[in-house]
Amino acid sequence: MAIVGPEGPTPYIEIYSTLIAMKTALATLLILIGALGAAAADSSSCIDCHAALDDARLANPAKLFPGDIHHQAGLTCADCHGGDPKDASMNAMSRTKGFHSVPKKGLIPDFCARCHSDIAYMHRFNPKMRADQLAQYLTSVHGKRLRQGDTQVAACVDCHGIHNILAVSDSRAPVYPTNVATTCARCHADAAYMKNYKIPTDQVAHYQKSVHARVLSEGDTSAPTCTTCHGNHGATPPGVSSVANVCGTCHAFFAQLFQKSPHQAAFAKMGLPGCVQCHSNHEIVKPSDDWVGVGPKSVCIACHASGDTGYQTAHAMAQDIARLDLSIAQAEGILDTAERKGMEVSGAKLDLASAQEALVKARVSVHTFRDEEIGKLSKQGLEIAARSNQAGVAALAELNFRREGLGIALVTILVAIAGLYLKIRQIESRQKS
Ligand code: HEC
Ligand code: HEC
Ligand code: HEC
Ligand code: HEC
Ligand code: HEC
Ligand code: HEC
Ligand code: HEC
Ligand code: HEC
Ligand code: HEC
Repeated sequence: MAIVGPEGPTPYIEIYSTLIAMKTALATLLILIGALGAAAADSSSCIDCHAALDDARLANPAKLFPGDIHHQAGLTCADCHGGDPKDASMNAMSRTKGFHSVPKKGLIPDFCARCHSDIAYMHRFNPKMRADQLAQYLTSVHGKRLRQGDTQVAACVDCHGIHNILAVSDSRAPVYPTNVATTCARCHADAAYMKNYKIPTDQVAHYQKSVHARVLSEGDTSAPTCTTCHGNHGATPPGVSSVANVCGTCHAFFAQLFQKSPHQAAFAKMGLPGCVQCHSNHEIVKPSDDWVGVGPKSVCIACHASGDTGYQTAHAMAQDIARLDLSIAQAEGILDTAERKGMEVSGAKLDLASAQEALVKARVSVHTFRDEEIGKLSKQGLEIAARSNQAGVAALAELNFRREGLGIALVTILVAIAGLYLKIRQIESRQKS
């Protein structure tokens, strides 16, 4: 075929080279377009369009998302919501592109669990990640009630947030141990919000006054927060049959003593909880010695009355502890005085430390709810305290003796000086005469 130009037919060779040039230009253009397209996909049409919207409800997700753990893991809006992040038009949110409407509260756990219950998927990102959050959650009061249609309870986003979800190890995360109480307080300390339920709204206020909250706020994360006792997702933490038994996971020795005590069977028969019966569940304070015994602050007299064995035991235990406490204090007083006056009593002080140890053990042994162990410890402690006391008394006596000795020596020297003086005067007057 012949191509006829204005100046007549063009030789084939020329057409051929023009075509090649055009093809190269086209290829370059295609590469350029491709690169532009890739850049657009990278920033995602969802974020670009939403961040520019006036309505905060629509714009905030796009503004918050860069700080979200899901963004950091490389996920996009479309991984959760579906749709086409390459389409810059409203069509990005078309059903045909897999977009689904925002989940209603009742469906949020399933929405999150699409990934979080898929262990193979989750382990691609983090080989240690658990995938039992939904299964656990469904055993909790929150999960059970949500399934019954109650949307006032906590679902995943009420504890973790939404579009600004942080790694649980991030100290700013709402589920980080030191922030958990505040997260629960949003509902559990709001009497108006909780008015349809028959439970109190004082848990957070009580917990804030506890030894546990104080120790945790000082940075010791071995102390429990709400979810340590109530479980992160499930009704109870792993290995605990009921929340009331959770204390033993940390205070193991106390639990062992309680198990062997007469209260174990007696409380079980009456349906009473163990530790919580005397210590309460949320406002756990530092106990004192007057909790034992028969005085007004005793926890025993709530159930035991004068005449029964429990009452007598309580009285005996309290006396044993009080006696030991008093003799340690006395010995300490004497040793301190002796030390202040420069006497060497470090040996006796070291000895007294083991009496102090016996007192600490006696306080723990209250949980045997029998007097034998405390009696034994008290006897040991009293002997040591008496020995220390004696050492202190001896040191003070020694001090007195030294003082007396010093006085006698002083008088002797003075008398000698005076005698010497008289003798010299005598010799001098003899020489003059
Ligand atoms: C061109 C701008 C634009 C783009 C691109 C866009 N959106 Fe939207 N999106 C909107 C507007 C406007 C609304 C509010 C529409 C309405 O209320 O009907 C909205 C609503 C939404 C909603 C809330 C729907 C609801 O039921 O309340 C979600 C979720 C959402 N977009 C996600 C996405 C995702 C995911 C992408 C990317 C795949 C995306 N959007 C891309 C503008 C955009
Ligand atoms: C990890 C999953 C996840 C990702 C990723 C995600 N969203 Fe959402 N989004 C949700 C859930 C769940 C809700 C419903 C929250 C609720 O009802 O409290 C929601 C709600 C919304 C809403 C409705 C807000 C409202 O108050 O009605 C918009 C708009 C939205 N998302 C846009 C986006 C955009 C834009 C992105 C990306 C920047 C994004 N989402 C990324 C899970 C996600
Ligand atoms: C009542 C509050 C609460 C609810 C509801 C909740 N979580 Fe959690 N979540 C936590 C706490 C607390 C942690 C643990 C934080 C830590 O380890 O210090 C946690 C941890 C996680 C972790 C990290 C891995 C792990 O299991 O420890 C993931 C993932 C997670 N939650 C997802 C979910 C999902 C999905 C849901 C909904 C099915 C959900 N959470 C519901 C409080 C909650
Ligand atoms: C599209 C899949 C997907 C969906 C849907 C999803 N997640 Fe995730 N989630 C992930 C991935 C992937 C990670 C990052 C794991 C990693 O890198 O450690 C993650 C991490 C998390 C973490 C941090 C865990 C940690 O180890 O600190 C929490 C908390 C979390 N998601 C909660 C949620 C909640 C709540 C929802 C529902 C609103 C949700 N996720 C929906 C995939 C998803
Ligand atoms: C979004 C609001 C909300 C948040 C946040 C919330 N809860 Fe709840 N929780 C509820 C509601 C509502 C109930 C149902 C009360 C009932 O049925 O007695 C409930 C029930 C409970 C129960 C069972 C009470 C019973 O009846 O024995 C426990 C325990 C509990 N929540 C602990 C927590 C802890 C711990 C946190 C924080 C990690 C928390 N909740 C966060 C709303 C919430
Ligand atoms: C040291 C463990 C422990 C800690 C910490 C703890 N709880 Fe409890 N909580 C309990 C026990 C035990 C019960 C009684 C449960 C039972 O009898 O089954 C209880 C009961 C509850 C109940 C049921 C209603 C009631 O008052 O009896 C709610 C709700 C609750 N706790 C919320 C919280 C919240 C919120 C926090 C954090 C501020 C918290 N708990 C901290 C152990 C704990
Ligand atoms: C997660 C571990 C943990 C759990 C669970 C726990 N505690 Fe504690 N508890 C601690 C730590 C840590 C301290 C502060 C250090 C200490 O004095 O032992 C503490 C302190 C105490 C104290 C004050 C001791 C003192 O001398 O001041 C009492 C009483 C107490 N806890 C009782 C309980 C009871 C009752 C429960 C169950 C309802 C419980 N604890 C659950 C860790 C725990
Ligand atoms: C029948 C009441 C009662 C029960 C049940 C009980 N305690 Fe105690 N607890 C006491 C008394 C009384 C003291 C104070 C002892 C003292 O200081 O002389 C005390 C003290 C403590 C102390 C502080 C000890 C110290 O060194 O000062 C801890 C911790 C403790 N209990 C934990 C527990 C745990 C854990 C349980 C459950 C296994 C439990 N208690 C069950 C009455 C009880
Ligand atoms: C919640 C109620 C309650 C509290 C509080 C309580 N006890 Fe008991 N105790 C019982 C019951 C019930 C029994 C078994 C019935 C009985 O023998 O009286 C029992 C049994 C005993 C026994 C064994 C009695 C016997 O006959 O062998 C002793 C000892 C005892 N308690 C000491 C104490 C001491 C000490 C305290 C305080 C630190 C205390 N109890 C606090 C309810 C309680």
